[in-house]
Amino acid sequence: MDMEKLVALCRRRGFIFQSSEIYGGINGFWDYGPLGVELKKNVKEAWWQDMVRNPPLGPDGQEINMVGVDCALVMNPKVWEASGHVAGFSDPMVDCKTDGCKGRFRADQLAGMTCPLKPSKAPGQFEKCQLTQPRVFNLMFKTFIGALEDPSAIAYLRPETAQGIFVNYKNVLDSTRLKLPFGIAQVGKAFRNEINPRNYTFRSREFEQMEIEFFCHPDESMKWYEYWRDVRIRWYSQLGIRSERLRPREQTAEERAFYSIGTTDIEYMFPFSEEPQELEGVAHRASYDLTQHQKHSGKDLSYFDEELWAKADKSPYGGDKKKETEAKAGLPYRFTPHVIEPSAGADRFTLAVLCEAYAEDTIGGEARVVMRFHPRMAPIKAAILPLVNKEGMPEKAFALYRELKQDYNVFYDDKGAVGRRYRRQDEAGTPFCVTIDGQSLQDGTVTIRDRDTTEQRRIPIGGVADELRKLLRPAQ
Ligand code: GAP
Repeated sequence: MDMEKLVALCRRRGFIFQSSEIYGGINGFWDYGPLGVELKKNVKEAWWQDMVRNPPLGPDGQEINMVGVDCALVMNPKVWEASGHVAGFSDPMVDCKTDGCKGRFRADQLAGMTCPLKPSKAPGQFEKCQLTQPRVFNLMFKTFIGALEDPSAIAYLRPETAQGIFVNYKNVLDSTRLKLPFGIAQVGKAFRNEINPRNYTFRSREFEQMEIEFFCHPDESMKWYEYWRDVRIRWYSQLGIRSERLRPREQTAEERAFYSIGTTDIEYMFPFSEEPQELEGVAHRASYDLTQHQKHSGKDLSYFDEELWAKADKSPYGGDKKKETEAKAGLPYRFTPHVIEPSAGADRFTLAVLCEAYAEDTIGGEARVVMRFHPRMAPIKAAILPLVNKEGMPEKAFALYRELKQDYNVFYDDKGAVGRRYRRQDEAGTPFCVTIDGQSLQDGTVTIRDRDTTEQRRIPIGGVADELRKLLRPAQ
């Protein structure tokens, strides 16, 4: 698949625009147009429905407890000290001093980059390149709170949604009375001042994450790590990502964060790269975050397992008085939970959905571009088309459109030849075109055209809503 063709289609049909385009754009920022906003909403809504409201049953067939939060983008800066972002959320950066270049690059990714000199080469490959020594560059966007722009007023735009969950862990526990294991989910914006934003929306400076922090007993954490890794891979396949383009990759001990017991990247073979690239990370973060916030805030974030304590035998402990006293005081039943974190990018997955959907084929000798979105992802679920603009067809079509519109994003189109209208819907990725023709007026049936096969069948007009409902049901 040719990335340039996809980018052109996204602009032409209103999926994605460069941000501030009429002013020449702004590097690393993107806007979603009328079709793109629906597509990305579908991504986020599918995730919320399938992971928060109705997650798959647990490894022992149990219900999964999951709730959501929506936290502020700006938090107390102490959060980012505790999480380690102030000290360590940085990339190594080099500058090129050569006239005509003056480029700024990520030092650890030079091989995959091109410099501004023509013909472009990887930074450092011309004789005249003058690269500086790598410097550490913190990726958090800084801002000031209030009128004074002094160091005491510095705050950060959040670089991940996860920390909002950790600092609200106790609030959620107290307000919901949930018991371990349980998860807290959040979807929202994150900001990173990336040194080299690139590959369309893949690496942006403003993007959205869909994150779960799943809290569990340390002894059960590996079971939950494996559960979430498998659930998350399956989710992508269920939404139409072909398995041969998708792979889980277990990070090596050297790659992992020092506190992580295991991390799996779920990667997708994007057309702009020879190697699969990360869509999502599923990380076993042990008790790192809660321990850090407990230390920095001075608040007790431990968990007391009342059920275990009530059931446990707190007597003799083989005569060991110390252990017996500790057991009676409940010490072994008080611990800091471990956390499994499936952390996905809404924009990255939206881009993968676009790449996966793009296809060119020939129908009746005519070439077409068709976006083969999974129906749940498709921005428009059905187009309602009167065959001609007379003989009562528009009225009947419009009535059907008004009815379906109450539940689905449907589109009414009565302009131009029906073949051209089909082509426009194919480019938008609309799974169904419903046409009201002469026969519809006589027997109350309509034709329903399948986007991928272009085959048409007749069904009663009253059955259209049912077809849509079946099509959009999540896989079990
Ligand atoms: N809380 C863990 C965390 O933030 P991450 O691997 O840095 O982990 C998680 O980010 C996901 O967020 C990535 O897998 C990716 O999908 C998305 N993401 C990260 N940086 C991004 C960027 N600059 N542009 C677009 N998406 C990004």
